[in-house]
Amino acid sequence: MAGRADGARLPGPLQIEETMTGTAAAPVPLLIDTDPGVDDALALLMAFNDPAHRVVGLSIAAGNVGLAHTVRNALKLCEVAGRDDIPVFPGCAGPLVHPCEDAAEVHGADGFGDIGYAPAEREASSEHAALAILRLSHEHAGRLLLVALGPLTNLALALRLDPTLPARVARLVVMGGAVTGHGNLSAAAEFNVGFDPEAAKVVFEAFERIELADWEATLAHGLHHDRVLEWLDADSPRARFYREISERTREWSVDRRGDHWHSADALAMALALQPDGVLESVRRPLRVETEGRHARGATVVDWRGPEGEGVDIMLGYDQDRFESLVRAALAAG
Ligand code: BDR
Ligand code: CA
Repeated sequence: MAGRADGARLPGPLQIEETMTGTAAAPVPLLIDTDPGVDDALALLMAFNDPAHRVVGLSIAAGNVGLAHTVRNALKLCEVAGRDDIPVFPGCAGPLVHPCEDAAEVHGADGFGDIGYAPAEREASSEHAALAILRLSHEHAGRLLLVALGPLTNLALALRLDPTLPARVARLVVMGGAVTGHGNLSAAAEFNVGFDPEAAKVVFEAFERIELADWEATLAHGLHHDRVLEWLDADSPRARFYREISERTREWSVDRRGDHWHSADALAMALALQPDGVLESVRRPLRVETEGRHARGATVVDWRGPEGEGVDIMLGYDQDRFESLVRAALAAG
C-alpha cells in the first residue's frame, strides 16, 4: 500500500470504503478527463446516471479527434443528458512532444459519428483543463475520484505544474495500455498511451496507485451487438442520441470484430463507479515505452513481479454488472 505526502495511507483500489463508493450521504466527487469519442460518451452517461457519484467537471483532451471537436462533443452530450451544470474545461490540443494521428476513422471526423448535430448552446469554461484538475483536487482533497479516458496529456501537464497532485487524489482510474502487448493503435500500443507516450510515462511514474482498465480487458468484455441495439431502443433522449452517434462506429466494429462491440471507456467507468464488480486483478510493475521503433507507446508489464508493486491491472469484471450499468445509463431520463 502506498504512502502519501501527508503521511496517510492510500486505500487499496479494490477495497470498498465510504469515500470510494459514495455509500455515505455525500456522493463521491468525480472528475473525468476525456476525449469524446463514442465510447467516452457512453462512459460519461454512466457517470451522469450514478447517484453515488457527483461529476464535478470534464477536462477535455485531444485524442480521438481534435480538441475543438472533443470540447464541442462534451458540451453537446451534457446538453442531451440535461447536465449543463457540469463544467467543461478545454485542455491540451495535442500530445506533449510528438504529434500523432487521431482516431477519426473509428469515431467519425467529428468524433461523434458525423451526424451533424446542432452545437450545444452553452460554451466551455475559460479555465484550462490542467488548472481545473489542480483546483478541483484541492477542493475535493482526499475524496476525488479521477478517471482518465483519453490520452494523458492534461494530467501530465497538471503533474508538471504541481507534483503534489497524487497526494490529493483518492483514486485514479485509467483506460489505457495493452498489458500483454496486444495493441490497437499499433501492434504493441493502445491508443490512449500510444497517442501521447511521454504524458503516459509522466502519469504512470507519478501515481503510486493506478487502477487500469486496458485494451485487452476491453476485448474480454464485449457487448453483443443485438443486446446493444435493444438497449438503444430505450425511449430516452440519451438512448436516441447515443444510437445516432454510435451507428458508424458500431458498423465499423461489426466488419472487423464480429458479434461483439467493445467500449473501452465504458468498462473503465464501470471499474471506477463500482470497483466491487472486479472479479480479478493483479498488481505489477508497468513501464511506458517512449523510444521503441516498433513498440513506442507500449505498456511493458513485468509479469515476473514483484507482485504487489506497480499498477493494479483489472483482469476480469462482472459482465452482468457491466451490462446493467450500460443499459441503465442509456435508458435514463
Ligand atoms: C481508447 O482509445 C480511444 O479511441 C477510445 O476512446 C478509448 O479511450 C481505446 O484504446
Ligand atoms: Ca477515450
